[in-house]
Amino acid sequence: MNLNKQTVAVILAAASIPFVYAEKVHVSTPTSSLLLEANEGAPLCILHYGAPLTASDIESPQLAGSAAQQAYPAYGSLRPEYEHAISCVQSDGNMTLYLNVVGTPAKVTEADGAEVTTITMRDPQYPVEVIVNYRTWPGENVMETWTETVNLGKKPITLTRYDSGYLPIRRGDVWLTNFYGSWSNETRVNQEELKPGVKVIHNHDGVRNSHTAHSEVLFSLDGPLDERSGRVIGAALEYTGNYELRVTTHTDEYAYHGFYAGIDPEHSPYTLGAGETFVTPPLALVYSDNGAGDVSRSFHRWGRNHRLAHGNDLRPILLNSWEGVYMDINEPAMAGMMKDIASMGGELFVMDDGWFGEGDYARVNDSRGLGDWTVDTNKLPHGIQGLVDEAKKNNIKFGIWIEPEMINTQSRLFDEHPEYVLQARNRQQEKGRGGTQMVLDMANPKVQDIVFTVVDTLLTKYPEIAYIKWDANVPVMQHGSQYLPADRQSHLYVDFHKGFAKVMDRIREKYPDVLIQACASGGGRVNWGYLPWFDEFWTSDDTDAQQRVYMQWGTSYFFPAVAMASHISVVPNHGTRRVTPLKLRADVAMTGRLGLELQPKDMNDDEKAFCRQAVENYKAVRPVVQQGDLYRLYSPYDGKGISSLMYVAPDKSEAVFYWFKLDGDMMTRFPRVRMDGLDPDRMYTVTELNRIDNTPLRFEGQTFSGKYLMDNGLELPDRYNVDWDKQTDLTSRVLRLQAK
Ligand code: GLA
Repeated sequence: MNLNKQTVAVILAAASIPFVYAEKVHVSTPTSSLLLEANEGAPLCILHYGAPLTASDIESPQLAGSAAQQAYPAYGSLRPEYEHAISCVQSDGNMTLYLNVVGTPAKVTEADGAEVTTITMRDPQYPVEVIVNYRTWPGENVMETWTETVNLGKKPITLTRYDSGYLPIRRGDVWLTNFYGSWSNETRVNQEELKPGVKVIHNHDGVRNSHTAHSEVLFSLDGPLDERSGRVIGAALEYTGNYELRVTTHTDEYAYHGFYAGIDPEHSPYTLGAGETFVTPPLALVYSDNGAGDVSRSFHRWGRNHRLAHGNDLRPILLNSWEGVYMDINEPAMAGMMKDIASMGGELFVMDDGWFGEGDYARVNDSRGLGDWTVDTNKLPHGIQGLVDEAKKNNIKFGIWIEPEMINTQSRLFDEHPEYVLQARNRQQEKGRGGTQMVLDMANPKVQDIVFTVVDTLLTKYPEIAYIKWDANVPVMQHGSQYLPADRQSHLYVDFHKGFAKVMDRIREKYPDVLIQACASGGGRVNWGYLPWFDEFWTSDDTDAQQRVYMQWGTSYFFPAVAMASHISVVPNHGTRRVTPLKLRADVAMTGRLGLELQPKDMNDDEKAFCRQAVENYKAVRPVVQQGDLYRLYSPYDGKGISSLMYVAPDKSEAVFYWFKLDGDMMTRFPRVRMDGLDPDRMYTVTELNRIDNTPLRFEGQTFSGKYLMDNGLELPDRYNVDWDKQTDLTSRVLRLQAK
């Protein structure tokens, strides 16, 4: 009997009640089982989340030592001392909520083959309904959960907490891995053992949600996280706005840590009128018995197949104008850059900030112009059409930068509609970048129309625009919506993102093909919540190759290379002022979606030739990098002076191996790196890419078994064989492996 994703109903004989109709709900993926108990008239309980269960495991009336905790604990039905996932104030002021299962769990199959299991609960005394959903896809290891809370009554109720999901995690030796950082230093990896107390990971930016913290975490259940072994739960809250993840280790009688994840409820009580529904964003979960690598690959595969815009398509190699010319946009510079990137084999040119605004509001610096999305004809006399034509002449595609949720107070839009900005009543305006930048009120449908129209106008007038870099450079500066009424001001953070979602849905419905990058002062929007509308993200404004090794490593735990924009830039790096070898810069950029972020006209012939070669090499391995399976081999955080990773084609016919030396000291001994993910029985021929040595590596062109490479790795010289003046401190290697 196949019990996968099937409801198992059993009749239980209970001592005091003659017969209780109990229903077990089994939701499963190839690597995990979630077993719930949905007893009519009782709260939904979670019996198990972890390794796949067999039919007999499920059929046994009670799972020995199961969690048997409420699956979506409500404040009030549990004693107040306990944590909860949802709380609400009823219309009569009652602060308690009871949620009991009603009806039978239902399963619905969606268009893309996903199956959604829904369990409905209701408060027995008050008109509140909560539907708990679980979604799985055939062959995918990810399981999503989210809820819908409905006010079935005639009077308003107010939600004061509304998590997407809750998971009890058995205590033992559980470690948490999370990601933290800041602008230009995003997605650093932190790991800690869970200790008594509550660990809170949250975001309060309002607009961008992944600079300082990420809404993705990993729990390793058997000690510190390991790439290849051990039980690991990966969790990602898929949301665009403020969130809160809580990991509790209470010292009460329970043997479980609690993991709660949802929209941040702080300053955000949400009132539901009669008949209204509050839908929480999905929480995606993966369980694996095979370490962090398996969890990452599961997220990447699912993301490419089901979440990321055009996730299974290869991305073009591009030149972005920002670090090359900043706001000094003009026709000759744009034409020169297009010609240069085309001559280096690139496929797309993206004109960044600085092309719009007119007269006094021309975007000559960051204090003006946002909101006025008309081309500055002083800079670009032939307008966008001139640029599109130029791109066509060079046989490349054209892309453009916008920041449509934002406004400068120095803009025509602000002169005409000061009521469109977020600002608190009776307070002085708070402004950000350039001293004049504010956030538009996305809760306002008129603003939503304006933002949609920015994209609609560009893409209608210039259908050749193939790529949009969508930026967002300030947080909500002040809590206040000029659109929301006084008694709904606390809806601001949630309604901003509902408005954002509406706009993005409209854009994607009308323009399904255009590529869109989620940029937000670099990596401020690296979250699965964005990626259904976006093809990729700008990983960081920091393009320094050495620092990128750490940031991209962190990013790789949950996000696939195809979405991770990674550009070659100049030295000294514009942020760190560090000088790193061009080879390292190219090699690191080639671990993600390769691009260039510089002024090619300032490069010498050797540099241009090297980049041309790197672009050609990348094209050869692009399908493996962008659609292959990632194996992290050696972490830069291990402090051994190296970092190494590889991508392997799904059929294991090909792989790309990267090795970066991060420590330039003399005579340091670096560990030899074993490969992973290859077919042990196949023979692989090794070719070095982006080679600068005068002579090839000893094993160039040689063939090794997958088993040998995974057991032993290859001995990599940590210096180049080059003329002395060409020697550099930070050696790097890229090896292509092709199966015979
Ligand atoms: C942000 C982005 C940069 C660039 C500038 C333009 O900082 O992250 O890549 O587009 O804005 O102003």
